[in-house]
Amino acid sequence: MTATPDTITRTDTKNPLTSGPGHCAIVGLQWGDEGKGQIVDLLTSDYDVVTRFNGGNNAGHSVHIGDEKFALHLLPSGITYSDKTNVIGNGVVVDPSPDTGILKEIDRITERGVTIGNNLRISDRAHAVLPYHKVEDALYEAAASKAMGNDSDTIGTTGRGIGPCYADKAYRSTAIRMGDLVDADKLRAKLSKTVPIKNVTLAALAAHVGREFETLTVDGLFDQVSAWGKRLAPHVCDTRRLLFDAQAANKRILFEGANAALLDVDHGTYPFVTSSSTSALGIGTGTGLPPKQLGQIIGVCKSYTSRVGGGPHPTELLNETGEHIRSVGKEFGTTTGRPRRVGWLDLTAVRYTAQLNGCTALVTTGISVLSGIETLKVCVGYTYRGTRLDDFPADADILAEAEPIYQELEGFSETLGELRDYDALPAAAKRYVETIEQFVGVPVRIVCVGPKRSQTIMR
Ligand code: GDP
Ligand code: IMO
Ligand code: MG
Repeated sequence: MTATPDTITRTDTKNPLTSGPGHCAIVGLQWGDEGKGQIVDLLTSDYDVVTRFNGGNNAGHSVHIGDEKFALHLLPSGITYSDKTNVIGNGVVVDPSPDTGILKEIDRITERGVTIGNNLRISDRAHAVLPYHKVEDALYEAAASKAMGNDSDTIGTTGRGIGPCYADKAYRSTAIRMGDLVDADKLRAKLSKTVPIKNVTLAALAAHVGREFETLTVDGLFDQVSAWGKRLAPHVCDTRRLLFDAQAANKRILFEGANAALLDVDHGTYPFVTSSSTSALGIGTGTGLPPKQLGQIIGVCKSYTSRVGGGPHPTELLNETGEHIRSVGKEFGTTTGRPRRVGWLDLTAVRYTAQLNGCTALVTTGISVLSGIETLKVCVGYTYRGTRLDDFPADADILAEAEPIYQELEGFSETLGELRDYDALPAAAKRYVETIEQFVGVPVRIVCVGPKRSQTIMR
């Protein structure tokens, strides 16, 4: 069946979680893929605008509606609701292309019956990820690998050109924003400045790692990119103004975090992070809307951890239990298809990221995946060179050496996917959820027992 906005079942009842005043943010508390898309989709009916404020198509947010699954990368997860405005804020980096970027997403989702028109708005201040950024991403990873003689020190990026695009934003002279992309004269001028610099730097980098580099031409890129700009022009506008006016008209905004706090460029496991502010702290700069009307900050916490790419992961399970969780939890990247590195829930990390975000509520996902595991473990601190660490360390090298201190919890064997009432959960599953909220110090208000919109238990 093709999902059209009209055939999608809505949860029309107002959610007690969203009935309070102000806007709401949904953010990831681990290394991504916590199930943010499910929660944004679930709560969209209570808001007027859904807006992304960070990241790019490194994100992969799954929205399950009935038997249909939508994997969204740049389109906000409220896009299947035709009556909501979906905004891509200035803090996002936008790959416009029809092969890997937003035009591909628009084409695919339109084929499935979702209307994309005035309901999609892209900031004119958002930076554009152009084809050479993806080349640059791969060359930097190859150069890091060459320098170290192995892949152990590479970031393991998604290869989507995210870091190079944010780097150009910081460089300024080589940056191209969406407002430039849709203005032919400006685009040509910007490309004329950028292309010679990219040709010199990327050719040198390619030579360094022994790869071919095809010289870029201003005309070639202009023809390609201006055609994308023409298609996207109707969506590009001053989204800061749009959000400000929406707020002034008492409309409510749902902010959709991409990536997650442990991947934050300032506060994550640096340098094994992405290049944007992934927590609620990034909402102001990523949208232009001061966060003073943010009423609810909901942190999404998966009942175990997963991580894609390089970097420390103290609770990683490199054994049969890990394989079991990966297979039951379908832990393969939504964006790259890579197997995710799964592990026990790290509560020390989640308490840290809940503080960072200022979480007012938690959502737990993935508890049903843990069914059948006799004894469950949660990390409540670390030992580093004989000393106990009670907080998440700033230094990724310390985290890499840190040994988790575990609290053991009794497991459960029941299947949870059909349950819709918290009291119907097995006692051990409830204890698990309550251990999370007690340790983190923030109440768990939604328990997801599967990825579908309907598989949510409100508390
Ligand atoms: P997002 O990037 O935070 O939107 O999350 P993804 O959709 O990329 O990944 C969520 C992952 O968690 C998928 O591999 C799911 O199979 C797995 N998962 C396990 N249990 C749940 C659950 O209860 N809810 C959701 N949404 N995902 C779950
Ligand atoms: P969602 O929104 C999981 C990881 C990459 C890599 C690092 C840097 O679906 O939760 P980048 O391409 O951003 O330079 O890669 O960050 N990463 C994610 N991992 N989920 C994501 O997004 C991610 N976004 C980036 O795997 O380790
Ligand atoms: Mg994801």
